[in-house]
This record gives sequence, C-alpha cells and structure tokens, in this order.
Amino acid sequence: MVFERKADHIDICLNKDVNSKKNYWSDVHLLHKALPEIDMHEIDCSIELFEKTLAAPIVISAITGGFNGAEKINRNLAEGAARVGVGLGLGSQRAAVEHPELAPTYECIKDYDVPLVIGNIGAPQLIAQDKHQAFGIEGCKKAMEMIDADILAIHMNYLQEIVQPEGDTNAHGCLDAIGEIAKEIPVLAKETGAGIYRDVAQDLRVKGVKGFDIGGMGGTSFAAVEYHRAMAKNEEILARLGEIFWDWGIPTPLSILEADVGLPIIATGGLNTGLDAAKAIALGAMAGGYSRKLLAPAMESADAVEKELNMLVAELKVAMFLLGARDIDALQNTPAIVTGHLSEWLNAMEPEE
Ligand SMILES: Cc1cc2nc3c(=O)[nH]c(=O)nc-3n(C[C@H](O)[C@H](O)[C@H](O)COP(=O)(O)O)c2cc1C
Repeated sequence: MVFERKADHIDICLNKDVNSKKNYWSDVHLLHKALPEIDMHEIDCSIELFEKTLAAPIVISAITGGFNGAEKINRNLAEGAARVGVGLGLGSQRAAVEHPELAPTYECIKDYDVPLVIGNIGAPQLIAQDKHQAFGIEGCKKAMEMIDADILAIHMNYLQEIVQPEGDTNAHGCLDAIGEIAKEIPVLAKETGAGIYRDVAQDLRVKGVKGFDIGGMGGTSFAAVEYHRAMAKNEEILARLGEIFWDWGIPTPLSILEADVGLPIIATGGLNTGLDAAKAIALGAMAGGYSRKLLAPAMESADAVEKELNMLVAELKVAMFLLGARDIDALQNTPAIVTGHLSEWLNAMEPEE
C-alpha cells in the first residue's frame, strides 16, 4: 500500500543506515583567497530560480506527503522555508490526486509564503504499467493546483522501482511522456539519488524541461531504503538487489558537470553543509538541494527547520567570504578543484584529447 510505503520511508530514513558508502563532496575543493577584498556583510546570496526570488540558493528537495504524520512534516518544512526564503519540493503527489482525502497533507503548505513551490509526480507513473493506467496531464495539473506549485518535478526513480516489491518497471516511452507534460506545464526533471548524465540531460532539454534536480549518488540511497523494507518483509531477492545496487549511480558533483546543458540545476544528493552548496554552485549548479538532512528537524518543529536552514546559509556565506565571492554569480565563476576518486570518474568520462 502506497501510504504504508511512505511511512516506511520516513521511519527507515530516520533510523537505519541509508547512506551511500562514499560522499563525493570531500573530493571537491575551493581555493581559499587570503585577501578576499569584500565585506562579509555585503554578501548577497539571493538567486532567481524559475522566475522566483530566493533569499538563498537552497531548495528543500522532495521528502513526503500522503500519510498520517506527513502534514506535520510538510507544515514544518513550509514554515521554515517561508521564514528563511528558500524553495520547497513536496513528495510524490500521485496518491493524493487519486485519493483526495490525502490532499490536506500537501495542501497545508499553502498556509505559508514559500517563495518557490515544487510539485512532484513519478516519471514511471506517466506511462501504463501492469497495475495502472498512465497518469496524464490532467493529474499533473491537479497536483500543481493542490499546492499552488510554480513548477512540477517529474522524478525518475527506476533504481528504486526495480528494488521495491510493488515497483513500476516499464520505462518505454517515458521521455516522450515527460515531453507531453512539459508542453503544457513547467517541468523540473528530477532524479532521486542516482544522478543524470549528459545524454539524458540533453534529451530532456530537447523535450522542453525547464531545469534539473540532479539527485545524484553520494547521499540517501534508495536502493538502501528498499533493502531495509525488503529485509523486514523477508523478500530475499529484493534485499539482495538493494545491497548490490546500494551505491549505484553518478556522483552528485559529476552529475552537475554532466547535466550542464544550459538549464538551471538544483544539486541534490549528499549535501550536508552550506559549504557543500558552495562547492555545487562553483561546479555550475544554481542551488543546493537538501532532503534527508531536513527530515529530523521537520519531525521536530518549524523552529528546528528554520535553525538548520539558517546554519546552512551561514556556512555558505562564510565559504563565499573566504572565496571573495560577493554574490552567486561570482561563486559560479569560482574554480573548483576535483581530486581523488571523483577525479578518476571525471577523467574516465571525459578522456583528455
Ligand atoms: C524520506 C524521503 C522520501 C523521499 N521521497 C521522494 C519523493 O516522493 N519524490 C522525489 O522526487 N524524491 C523523493 N526523495 C528523494 C530526495 O528528494 C533526494 O533526491 C534524495 O534523498 C537525495 O538527497 P539527500 O541525499 O539530500 O537525501 C525522498 C527522500 C527521502 C529522504
């Protein structure tokens, strides 16, 4: 049951190890500027993203909705995001479109003045699967209206689908289906922890998406999440798949470089600090995305979410000061050094002439 699954995800993400084994942000370095020649107080980290102004280049990436307990989480996230002035993505809304009694767990965010609201629907649901019909444009429009969304994230989560018992494993025609939706409403193409490489990004750009939340590998692993669910249900084969594909995907920093096809990028996947967002932006992202990092504060209160977001902004601003970057444009033009395992990935993806 979909409601049970969402509650399981929260419980597992709070209580079990779901981290990718390596967090690639430690392979990205920024060059300290001994004479920054700016005043810390003049740093402006606001951005324009999808025609909205954010006080800081931070987006809370999709977490939840659609089960008892989700309303509290979404209210706390929305209130925190509104107070700090950052973007908010909701969890998958399909269940609420099909079962309107679940809509309040998402709709509640309309009580807060969040500057950028991102809806969420799964790409695998846009095409017919064994168990259900294709979810079409009308459903997507309902999802947008439910939360007054500025843009709809269509999440590509085939790694998760293949490891979960009730997964949608047909991917035929998914790109075209995304293209059909993108003709009518603004679409953000989103991964959920396995990243996006250049060809996929280019195909999606041609289909008219407005940007990417690259959801790369290095943070929350959905193969790991589904491993824990499979273990609890004694699903031996799925548990083994979850274990084997635990670290499957494209590291987030590499995915930023790969998905750089001229559209704004939200870099999600293993970001733990504001310094990680600074690294992501120096690599070419427009904003840093945080998902599981904000789950525990969201279980607590809006104050806890606000406090965590303010910490991230403070860390980002210190990085900007020490780089001599007065604004996000300057940060995007700051060189980033890539070492270690990530540098091997990079060299292998783009062999020198
Ligand atoms: C509890 C939980 C639920 C999630 N549910 C969704 C979802 O419904 N839709 C979606 O697009 N991504 C979902 N995600 C994926 C995140 O948006 C993000 O891409 C991924 O967790 C990697 O970011 P992180 O390392 O900061 O957690 C979820 C993540 C978590 C932790």
